[in-house]
Amino acid sequence: MKDVLTDKVSANGNLPKHIAIIMDGNGRWARLKNLPRAAGHKEGINSVREIVRVCGEIGVSHLTLYTFSSENWSRPKTEVSAIMKLLLSTIKKEIRNLDDNNVKLSTIGNLKELPSETQKNILDGVKKTKSNTGLNLILALSYGSRQELIRAIKRILTRVKESNLVIDNIDETLLNAELYTADIPDPDLIIRTGGEYRLSNFLLWQSAYSELLISETFWPDFRESDLLNSIADYQNRQRRFGQTADQVKL
Ligand code: IPE
Ligand code: IPE
Ligand code: MG
Repeated sequence: MKDVLTDKVSANGNLPKHIAIIMDGNGRWARLKNLPRAAGHKEGINSVREIVRVCGEIGVSHLTLYTFSSENWSRPKTEVSAIMKLLLSTIKKEIRNLDDNNVKLSTIGNLKELPSETQKNILDGVKKTKSNTGLNLILALSYGSRQELIRAIKRILTRVKESNLVIDNIDETLLNAELYTADIPDPDLIIRTGGEYRLSNFLLWQSAYSELLISETFWPDFRESDLLNSIADYQNRQRRFGQTADQVKL
């Protein structure tokens, strides 16, 4: 069945080039099972591994995973440190596997806010995989879209002040270039697991024309067939970018 779905999604040809996922529902998954919230985060790593593998196999070009938001720092200290511990051990364990699978790792967000050992291991992983030509895996870490936009505005104003940038020349391309996502195409499909209908400060500028898909499935249960079904749903949609249906069909 899974293979049939894989073939269907691949044969369609209209694969989302960039999929971004809000991996939500770890805590509720754990609660349902009477487990501590951290157990949900831990199981979520198995979903990450599987989704990364499938995206690589079917030829998705970019996969962005909302891993930890700027606002997640305000969770209880014990939960934040459990997540940080898991992040570090996962990075240490998985880099080799990612490299073997030709995955190129990068990050968006304020990496400097992470513990220094985590920063170091992530940067080592980014360096190690930088020449890989397969899936671009982007981890959103200590990421917030409003913070990203403020950072971009400051960088642009600095250019106005110090390098003669003319205000009239500020356009979408110029703003894009000052975002963490400068080299990354906008997401075609944004999936949120866990059933909430919100973006929670994720890629607010970049999602202007993204297709949104809300899955009721909690992230630790979101696996290959859920991803393939989400892509199949995307493939049945018509993206109009402001035009009429007839225009787009031509
Ligand atoms: C997402 O799952 C993981 C992070 C935000 C780090 P949650 O921990 O938000 O899970 P719920 O939403 O409480 O179920
Ligand atoms: C969004 O989930 C952030 C990540 C998945 C990393 P949250 O659980 O933090 O979102 P809210 O607080 O429910 O909006
Ligand atoms: Mg949540």
